[in-house]
Amino acid sequence: MANQEISQGSGRTRFKRKLQQSLGGWGVFLQGFVEHPVMVGSIIPSSRFTIRKMLAPVDWDHCRLFVEYGPGVGTFCRPVLDHLRKDGTLIVIDTNKLFIDYLNRQIVDRRFIAVHGSAEDVEEIIRAHGHSHADYILSGLPFSTLPAGVGHRIAAATYRGIRQGGAFLTYQFSKAAQNFTEQYFDRVESGLEWRNVPPCHLAWSWKGEA
Ligand SMILES: C[S@@+](CC[C@H](N)C(=O)[O-])C[C@H]1O[C@@H](n2cnc3c(N)ncnc32)[C@H](O)[C@@H]1O
Repeated sequence: MANQEISQGSGRTRFKRKLQQSLGGWGVFLQGFVEHPVMVGSIIPSSRFTIRKMLAPVDWDHCRLFVEYGPGVGTFCRPVLDHLRKDGTLIVIDTNKLFIDYLNRQIVDRRFIAVHGSAEDVEEIIRAHGHSHADYILSGLPFSTLPAGVGHRIAAATYRGIRQGGAFLTYQFSKAAQNFTEQYFDRVESGLEWRNVPPCHLAWSWKGEA
């Protein structure tokens, strides 16, 4: 019986590994969604149009620390690293270890740090890596399905974790993220990207005056 369980278990593991190998990042994202649908919140990664529009207002010359919540399989990581200064740092934080392990295998860049943890702990994570504040924080978190209280804790910790003049960039299929950031940030601009499945609400929530 024990042997049968072991062989069934390893068969499942082999199947998952084969699926990941044949589908690449998409297979890992699909597996993450199947295992944690509420936390992942979407079955399709963001489009390149969403990425371009979301990152457009970032002042890359003055960005030393960029933080991303919920990178998934890293749809935004490569574009962020392409723009980031040579001495900059990108910290990504995800509660799903499957995604963090995948990113650590895929992205070899000394500016890149992948943390298995929650966005609620962003201030400790920033300090643990030698910074006082982030210049920008990006979020793909499913704010509408986060457990009660978590959205408020993340929005408040994010405001404290960003420098004056920095911004919290959020994208989601609903306006849920923006509804949270409007309660904490000083100025919020918003937009819609239709070339995404489904169309995506974007918000740029600024700390400090324009
Ligand atoms: C919709 S997916 C984002 C996908 C990806 N960023 C993209 O653009 O395609 C949401 C991600 O948020 C992560 N997540 C959910 N709650 C979290 C939390 N409290 N802290 C950090 N990551 C979280 C999930 O594991 C998942 O990777």
